[in-house]
Amino acid sequence: MSDHVLELADVDGGYGEVQVLDDLSLHLDENEIVCLIGPNGAGKSTVLKTAFGLLTPWEGNVLYHGREIGGMAPEDIVREGIGFVPQTDNVFGSLTIDENLRMGGVAREEGLEEAIGRLYERFQLLDEKRSAKARTLSGGQRQVLAFARALVMEPDVLLIDEPSAGLAPNTADDVFGHVQAVNELDTAILMVEQNATKGLGISDRGYVLDQGTVRFEGSADGLLEDDEVSKLYLGG
Ligand SMILES: Nc1ncnc2c1ncn2[C@@H]1O[C@H](COP(=O)(O)OP(=O)(O)O)[C@@H](O)[C@H]1O
Ligand SMILES: [Mg+2]
Repeated sequence: MSDHVLELADVDGGYGEVQVLDDLSLHLDENEIVCLIGPNGAGKSTVLKTAFGLLTPWEGNVLYHGREIGGMAPEDIVREGIGFVPQTDNVFGSLTIDENLRMGGVAREEGLEEAIGRLYERFQLLDEKRSAKARTLSGGQRQVLAFARALVMEPDVLLIDEPSAGLAPNTADDVFGHVQAVNELDTAILMVEQNATKGLGISDRGYVLDQGTVRFEGSADGLLEDDEVSKLYLGG
């Protein structure tokens, strides 16, 4: 038995006939924040989609607490304890904050009111705007709502795709603060970030993806200090 919370082992995969992931292996351990970085088109979002059952691996395994989940339907993966915050369209703009949270909990069999109540305690800004339409929120607030939606199921793994995309630097810092706060409540986080320096800055470990496979991996500090990683992928 592996003690990784989540593991992709030797995964090939992609879209239709188009191969994107090429013998890709990575893992996430209990309580970690792990950051995936790499150029546009490297396959970072494809990794998250494959881990969440939106794509079926062609080869290899997706393991959750050592059990195969590769190709399981997303709604079943959610019930297992994995949440996903996609990069775009991660809230319903025409629904209220409260309705968005309820939708996040449709797969919950019990304890929905309590779970939502805890989220309102945790995210004051959502509490104050329960009845507002999600489209009236700022970009940063919308990202917080997207996290909260995924947290209604109280996952022990959260997959987050580019939480800071399109946000002003200060707002991005707030959002990274929320990522850390979520992690501190015992949720392991696998996060894709375009802003590699900031993403690694809040992470324990990182992987550099290029052309669908892992080129570098290590502690976040180690990657930030690595000359080659810095030159090739951090714009330094
Ligand atoms: N729905 C799709 N159908 C076909 N190809 C796709 C699709 N989504 C992404 N791709 C291709 O897969 C590759 C990896 O994409 P992606 O995982 O989104 O990269 P990243 O998130 O690292 O920028 C790219 O070449 C992209 O064009
Ligand atoms: Mg992407």
